[in-house]
Amino acid sequence: MIRNIRSVRGMKDYLPNSTVIWQQIEIILKNILRNYGYKEIRLPIIEKISLYERAIGNVTDLVEKEMYTFIDRNGDSLTLRPEGTAGCIRSGIEHGFLYHQEQRLWYMGPMFRHERPQKGRYRQFNQMGIEVFGLTGPNIDVELIMMNIRWWKALGIENHVRLEINSLGSIEACSNYRNVLIKFLEKNEHLLDEQCKHRMYTNPMRILDSKNPKVKELMQNAPKIIDYLDNDSNIHFEKFCKLLNELDVKYDINPYLVRGLDYYNRTVIEWIADSLGAQSTICGGGRYDNLVMQLAGYHTPAIGFALGIERLISLVESVNPVFKTTNYASIDVYIINNNLHNHIAAIILAESIRDAMPELIFVTDFRGGSLKKQTIRAVKLNASLILILDEYLANSNRAVIKDLRTGTQQIIDRIDIVNTLYLLLK
Ligand code: HAM
Repeated sequence: MIRNIRSVRGMKDYLPNSTVIWQQIEIILKNILRNYGYKEIRLPIIEKISLYERAIGNVTDLVEKEMYTFIDRNGDSLTLRPEGTAGCIRSGIEHGFLYHQEQRLWYMGPMFRHERPQKGRYRQFNQMGIEVFGLTGPNIDVELIMMNIRWWKALGIENHVRLEINSLGSIEACSNYRNVLIKFLEKNEHLLDEQCKHRMYTNPMRILDSKNPKVKELMQNAPKIIDYLDNDSNIHFEKFCKLLNELDVKYDINPYLVRGLDYYNRTVIEWIADSLGAQSTICGGGRYDNLVMQLAGYHTPAIGFALGIERLISLVESVNPVFKTTNYASIDVYIINNNLHNHIAAIILAESIRDAMPELIFVTDFRGGSLKKQTIRAVKLNASLILILDEYLANSNRAVIKDLRTGTQQIIDRIDIVNTLYLLLK
């Protein structure tokens, strides 16, 4: 027996009792994406490190200290993807689906970040990401929010999340603001912690969302990016807010919302679920109109966001017990062989019923034992019905159906099995 082999810190197993909830939630999310005309893209989990360095920014926490990077057997420096946007653009450039085109794409899967694990923060976690290319907004910015709201409503969490928005303006406006912010930070350097001092010249905007209470207090008086927006970005943001108002969407403008990745400009958004505690952002994103230019050399406006699936599921389970209590793992019919020497009779019967009722769940007992033991297994699996076959019944083309919910049972001819199951389970 192999001892002491455990999963890697921060990387979880998802066991069958939780994957059934995941599947239900994924179906809801995907149906709504389809409803808005989004198409799935499946991307590799590994990309070259240079992609992330160029796309996310060399002085972000993510690239500086959170990436899983390794040298492969060819000597190439590769990284387990920490997010999906960069890979999606890489794919778009490679396959030519970004140049002068409109795309509405989604992807889902694991991402890897070497962060300190805690509740809601893992080293391997799952995202559902959405990327839209070729649209300048703000209509599409608002439609993405509407799609988010449709998700929340379908999952019953619409009253447990709130929306924060901000605008980062154009690259030039952002860089002007950066200089103003650095001046403010220099004046108040004595109030900054070591990490903030380190970031002061490399990535001063991240200090705006520092979690250190003293720094937070100081930053209340910092200049606000919204006051330094360029004219076009101002108009964009005003229209975005106006559309949200017209659609009756509640939101807060958070002047300190800057996001952790360097590629954003103009609209940035986060959906927060306060009840989740420290890791309360379930979904975040924004515009990144310059990233395609930076990586491909041609202009393609873009916007997207990613949903943290673990955080979403934790919220859904806590506020919407239907998902937790509905036992999706239960089965419809458990087929019992009672002293049936020839198992093939049970297999043939099960196959023919599955042909007729493909939507139901049938499990056949292959462990054998007494009728009682097999019935106990059926009860443990939360079966609604048991279908009993024995030598005598099989020879006379009959079976017993017992309803475990009511305790009633009946002997039926083989020809009537499907109809009887249908009537009992409908
Ligand atoms: P992000 O804000 O880094 O954005 O991640 C998006 C979401 O992933 C977060 O709001 C959170 O719910 C979840 N998440 C992030 N890190 C972890 C973690 N360590 N453990 C559990 N959940 C986590 C992006 O990744 C951008 N690519 C989003 C985007 C797409 N922007 C434009 N397009």
